[in-house]
Amino acid sequence: MVPSTDLAAATASAFQETFAYPPQGLFRAPGRVNLIGEHTDYNDGFVLPMAIDRAVWAAAAPRCDRQVRVVALSLEPNEPHTFSLDGLKPDRVIRWSNYIRGVLALLERAGHRLGGLDLVYAGDVPIGAGLSSSAAVEMAIATAACHLFVLDLAGLELARICQQAEHEFVGTQCGLMDQLISVLGQEDHALLIDCRHLTWQPVPLPAEVAVLVCDTGKRRGLADSAYNERRAQCEEGAHRLGVAALRDLNLGTFEAQAGQLSPLLRKRCRHVVCENDRTLRTAKALRRGDTAAVGRLMNESHTSLRDLYEVSCEELDLMAALAQSQPGCWGARMTGAGFGGCAVALVDRDAVDAFSQTVTTLYECQTCRTPSLYVCQASAGAGPV
Ligand code: GLA
Repeated sequence: MVPSTDLAAATASAFQETFAYPPQGLFRAPGRVNLIGEHTDYNDGFVLPMAIDRAVWAAAAPRCDRQVRVVALSLEPNEPHTFSLDGLKPDRVIRWSNYIRGVLALLERAGHRLGGLDLVYAGDVPIGAGLSSSAAVEMAIATAACHLFVLDLAGLELARICQQAEHEFVGTQCGLMDQLISVLGQEDHALLIDCRHLTWQPVPLPAEVAVLVCDTGKRRGLADSAYNERRAQCEEGAHRLGVAALRDLNLGTFEAQAGQLSPLLRKRCRHVVCENDRTLRTAKALRRGDTAAVGRLMNESHTSLRDLYEVSCEELDLMAALAQSQPGCWGARMTGAGFGGCAVALVDRDAVDAFSQTVTTLYECQTCRTPSLYVCQASAGAGPV
C-alpha cells in the first residue's frame, strides 16, 4: 500500500501536472469502520463507528466560471471529466462523477452559491469493502467546496448534504452514519451516535487492543437494491407495530407485539431492536474497560446480521469465524452494509502478528482468495491538510 502521506502528495502533484498550476488547497476525509450498530442508523437508532487512517484526498482550486474539471486518480487517472454546475444531473456513464455532481448540486440547492472547480482526488479506502469509500469521497469534495467558497457549514449539515447526494445521485437510501463519522471522527475514539437526536459522544478505545480490519476480498455486488429493500422492510415493520421508527421499541415491547409481523419482517426487526441494545451496551462496556463484554456483543451482532438480517455472505462468515477462534481475539463481526467487504476484529496488540498470519493462511486455504488484514487507528474527521 502507498503510505497516506505519499498519496496526499501524489494527489497534489497530479493536480499540477493535469491543470498546469498548483492547487489552492488539499483536503482529507477519512473512511470508517463501524464497531457495532449495523443497519440501525436509518431506524433512528445507535451506531458506534470510528474514522480510520485511510482516507480520500482532494486537491482543488476554484475557477472563475461554472465548469468543474475532475480527475479520479485511482479510477481514470488521465482524463479530466468536465461538467457544468448548471442543471446538474446524475451521469449514467461516468458513474463515479455522481458523488461529486451530487455534493455540488446539493450544496447549491441548500442556498450556497459555488463557482467552478478544478479537482483531483485519490484515496486508499478500498471501494465496495464496507469502509465507506463513498462517504469519504463525498466529504472530501464537500470539505473542499466549503473551504474554497468560504461556506459556513457545520459538520452535521455537511453530512446531511452528502447523504442526500448519495440518495439522489447514486441511488442508495443510506443512513447518516458514514458521512457523520467522516466529518466528526476523533483520534483514539469511536463515536456513539444517536441517529434520532443527532447527538454523539466520544468513546475511548482501549490502548492495549487493536482494531483490525479483515478484508475478505469479496466486493459487494447488487448491494444497493438489497440495502434499499432492508430499509423498506424496517419501515414496514415500524408502521405495522405503530411506531415512528424501530428505535421506539425495546426488547420487551418488541417481543410482546412481534406476532403481528410476518416471519421475515419479524427477523429483520428483531435484528434492529437487539442491535440498538447491543450498541448501547458496547459503549458502556468500553467505558468501563470490559473488553470481553465488547467482544461478545460483536460476535452476537455478527450472528444476528447473518441469520436475522441476512446481509452477510460465506466469505464474511468464514472470516468472522476464523477471527473469533484465534487467541487474543475478543470478538469479530462483519462491518458496513454487508454482502461482501470487511470484518472487524478486536485483538490484543501483542497477538496481532500471529492473528494476521494464521487468519490469512486459513482464509486463503478455504477460499483461494488472498485477504488483506490491517490495524486501523481511530483518526480525526475531514478537514484541510
Ligand atoms: C452503509 C450505509 C450506512 C449504514 C450501513 C449499515 O454503510 O451507508 O448508512 O446503514 O450501511 O449499518
